[in-house]
Amino acid sequence: MSLKKFKAMVVKETDDKKYIREITEKLIDELPEGEVLVKVKYSSLNYKDGLSAMGNKAVTKSYPHTPGVDASGIVEESESNDFQSGDEVIVHAYDLGMNTSGGFGQYIRVPAAWVVKLPGGLSSKESMVYGTAGFTAALSILKLEERGVTPESGEILVTGATGGVGSIAVAILAKAGYQVVAATGKLNEKQFLIDLGVKEVIGRDEARDTTGRLLLKGRWSGVVDTVGGDILATAIKSTKYGGTVTCCGNVASHELNTNVYPFVLRGVSLVGIDSANCPMNVRLQVWEKMSKEWKLEHLDYLTSEIALEELDHNIELILQGKQKGRVVVDLWR
Ligand SMILES: NC(=O)c1ccc[n+]([C@@H]2O[C@H](COP(=O)([O-])OP(=O)(O)OC[C@H]3O[C@@H](n4cnc5c(N)ncnc54)[C@H](OP(=O)(O)O)[C@@H]3O)[C@@H](O)[C@H]2O)c1
Repeated sequence: MSLKKFKAMVVKETDDKKYIREITEKLIDELPEGEVLVKVKYSSLNYKDGLSAMGNKAVTKSYPHTPGVDASGIVEESESNDFQSGDEVIVHAYDLGMNTSGGFGQYIRVPAAWVVKLPGGLSSKESMVYGTAGFTAALSILKLEERGVTPESGEILVTGATGGVGSIAVAILAKAGYQVVAATGKLNEKQFLIDLGVKEVIGRDEARDTTGRLLLKGRWSGVVDTVGGDILATAIKSTKYGGTVTCCGNVASHELNTNVYPFVLRGVSLVGIDSANCPMNVRLQVWEKMSKEWKLEHLDYLTSEIALEELDHNIELILQGKQKGRVVVDLWR
């Protein structure tokens, strides 16, 4: 039994169904069972963390709870032959931060099957600049390329472009030589997107068709959609013959009202993206790419680094769609 304490954000549910977030101390012994105990150096903020922190029961069923779907750090204890004490590792997705105490605490304990060794070429902090958002962006691009999309195929649309998934998608695509068009609700952040490498910025209104036409002029060879709803429906209708659209998010809406013509007349593919249960072989392939050919030079440019105590305010911003780029949490600051 260990009486060792650590600092964590804890979300509590009150009797009148309000959710209170506080930074408090927890015992290592309170952590769930698992083969690997990790001392967390960095975490990052994702939209799903915002949902968990505001009491969304589709994400987190019971409280008190420590959110944080991302963590990077050092193995402190391991009952698995695959990991030794002192190994630098990343843990993200699966159930971390959902119903398993997550990366917004200085320690996590998880099954060995959730743990990835930190790839050479990435520091612990850099891995969290990518985090689940970057992983999802890279997985989306991998799926476009697997379906034959190349820089020569034509323009790629990225929606929710200033957000976590969007900004990393924009930056990786630009680095890989694609012509990227960014759709954003933050036209005041046009320069941020241009600096990340986009060739054109369009507003959300332009990205959302209101004519009701079944097909629109085919423009995109690929789409990385992070928002869902009418913007995704418009993107599908505006995709060129043989193009591919990936769908990972629902910040605009979980609904998708579309018709069959983009699929049956243009051969457009709609590919679902799930990072949470992505198989380990694909997971390792994506991290390998992010640490090498898709490694971004100016990660600091799209990152703000905060302490645990600053999370509360940043959670409010992400829930309002106001975050820009990635927020990395230094657990020991
Ligand atoms: N499937 C998966 O495995 C997976 C993994 C990670 C994330 N996700 C999902 O991907 C989405 C994005 O996650 P994130 O962490 O990147 O969140 P985020 O940082 O909050 O980015 C979302 C962006 O979407 C845009 N947006 C916000 N509200 C909107 C609205 N009402 N209508 C249209 N656009 C809106 C904003 O960008 P602009 O202002 O630039 O438009 C916002 O910055 C979320 O739905 C998340 O749950 C899924």
